Amino acid sequence: MTDFITKDKRTHYCGDVGISDIGKEVILMGWAHRRRDHGGVIFVDLRDREGIVQVVFNPDAGDAVHGQAHRIRSEFVLAVKGKVRKRPDGMENPALKTGGIEVIVSELEIMNESKTPPFSLDDVEISENVRLKYRYIDLRRPAIQQNLFLRSRLASATRNYFDKNGFIEVETPFLGKSTPEGARDYLVPSRIYQGMFYALPQSPQIFKQLLMVSGFDRYYQIVKCFRDEDLRADRQPEFTQIDVEMSFITEEDIMQIMEGLMAVIFKSCLGREIALPLPRLTYRDAISRYGKDNPDVRFGMELVDLTDIVKNSGFKLFQEVAASGGIIKAIKAEKAASLSRKDLDGLKDYVAVYGAKGLAWAKVNAADWTSPIYKFLQPAEVGNIGKKMNAKEGDIIFFVADTPRVVNDSLGNLRLHLAKKLNLIDPEALAFTWITEFPLMEYSDTEKRFVSTHHPFTSPFLEDLPLLKSDPGKVRARAYDLVLNGSEIGGGSIRIHRKDVQAQAFDALGLSEEEARSKFGFLLEALEYGAPPHGGIAFGLDRLTMIMTHTESIRDVIAFPKTQKAACLLSEAPSKVSIKQLMELSLKIV
Ligand code: AMO
Ligand code: AMP
Repeated sequence: MTDFITKDKRTHYCGDVGISDIGKEVILMGWAHRRRDHGGVIFVDLRDREGIVQVVFNPDAGDAVHGQAHRIRSEFVLAVKGKVRKRPDGMENPALKTGGIEVIVSELEIMNESKTPPFSLDDVEISENVRLKYRYIDLRRPAIQQNLFLRSRLASATRNYFDKNGFIEVETPFLGKSTPEGARDYLVPSRIYQGMFYALPQSPQIFKQLLMVSGFDRYYQIVKCFRDEDLRADRQPEFTQIDVEMSFITEEDIMQIMEGLMAVIFKSCLGREIALPLPRLTYRDAISRYGKDNPDVRFGMELVDLTDIVKNSGFKLFQEVAASGGIIKAIKAEKAASLSRKDLDGLKDYVAVYGAKGLAWAKVNAADWTSPIYKFLQPAEVGNIGKKMNAKEGDIIFFVADTPRVVNDSLGNLRLHLAKKLNLIDPEALAFTWITEFPLMEYSDTEKRFVSTHHPFTSPFLEDLPLLKSDPGKVRARAYDLVLNGSEIGGGSIRIHRKDVQAQAFDALGLSEEEARSKFGFLLEALEYGAPPHGGIAFGLDRLTMIMTHTESIRDVIAFPKTQKAACLLSEAPSKVSIKQLMELSLKIV
């Protein structure tokens, strides 16, 4: 019996055998992807992480080889020795990297058998739950392996970049103190301090600020963060950040460093050039032009404010909405003749999700409009709207009249929906935008007070400080997000490093000195021992990988992800624990 592991070494990855190896003897090890028995000659597609190669078992190879090859089934683990030869004319497979050659096997070892796998790796229609339960098999798929290879290159390029730029990687604790604001914490009960809990970090925010107080000056970390929040296609309960903090800097320095990182990773991982500096938009402009603070700027279709034109409209609804402080905005889908009447009516339900009570539309013809509201409008209004929207024959205009929040939200989302439906997005485009000048606080209707938009240590614009008392909603934060193709890939801020400013901010948030102390005491105390001016940012590594690999689901760029319901189907976490474990923690399930 052949014993490759002790006798011989593997010479090539399956996917790496090529034309230049013709005539050579090779030793390959991998999984049987497919077996075809051509009445005599047996073909096996042998697969490893680098790809697939066809290996051939001829009847004249003898019983130890050809005879054994009959036993091979899907996902058996094989080692073969054989000679590389050019495939006969007409038998090449251009779809395969190794499609010009094949390996004529002279020795075979079946290193391990496999039960019949629950699904074929080529099957694209299997439910995700089955894939996640057998994740170790699912991870054999070349497409997912490619995602994880890219993720690894991305992390490596990131470490190199920060290393070259004088940053130091410092690890921060996972068992920390529960602090309010942001998402819900994952809690870990303490055995030694019964009735007390650690919290897993939502981010290393406080610790990285403490590192600045300690003088490390330039910190980074590729780090897991934990947030117990409702999951979506681009959210996981545990995810990875590229986390950064710097001292004696302004927002310009942080943006410059992170732009440099983007240029380096897109170049080294994808060979793509990114033009720097990256464009910027204020929060205000982003909302007004795109309806969102994470605008997808790969296409136009901007929101246009028509309130001034229609505030005295013949259409009563527009008039009433304008009179009550609302706004009327519109977007224009160019050459949208493909949208049927039924499509247009369906869109009403789409915007209803965002609170819009209706959606008026107008098909622009050569001389007039086809529109349910045309008969209500004065000719001058139609002319002015057409002019302001630069509308041409064949375009369709969509209007929403409501509060600014509802109008921006519904049109901002309709814009994205239409762009997908009408195929307006170039899948290869990379459109970055910094969003700046976020509001520092927003009024929360549920809490009946102002709450931090980012976190309570975000510095306000110093010139806006007087507004903290009089009009907190107007105060701008020194915060910035980086958006790529409509996805928020990172965000951060310049922090408050002075106690007097922090006190004013807590005051505006309705937090007493005492409450603030009990919640963030250790950071506040540290700020009193010589905290330098500092600021930072964190990027979502998973989201970046998603965009770089054109992946729709965050689960396809994470080796062992959780489901939408935060479960690990593979290990069956979360799970019950024994009474003994609960007793040790003094916990009782109610
Ligand atoms: P923030 O909360 O904006 O900032 O997070 C930074 C980035 O992390 C990514 N992200 C997520 N990715 C996947 N799943 C999630 N549940 C998830 N939540 C966030 C996003 C986001 O832009 N400490 C601050 C940063 C700072 O101020 O320096 C922070 O955590 O891409
Ligand atoms: P109605 O007179 O109620 O049939 O409305 C005329 C048109 O205006 C219909 O196409 C409605 O969908 C649309 N509409 C109703 N409410 C709004 C709104 N808040 N914003 C924009 N269009 C609306």
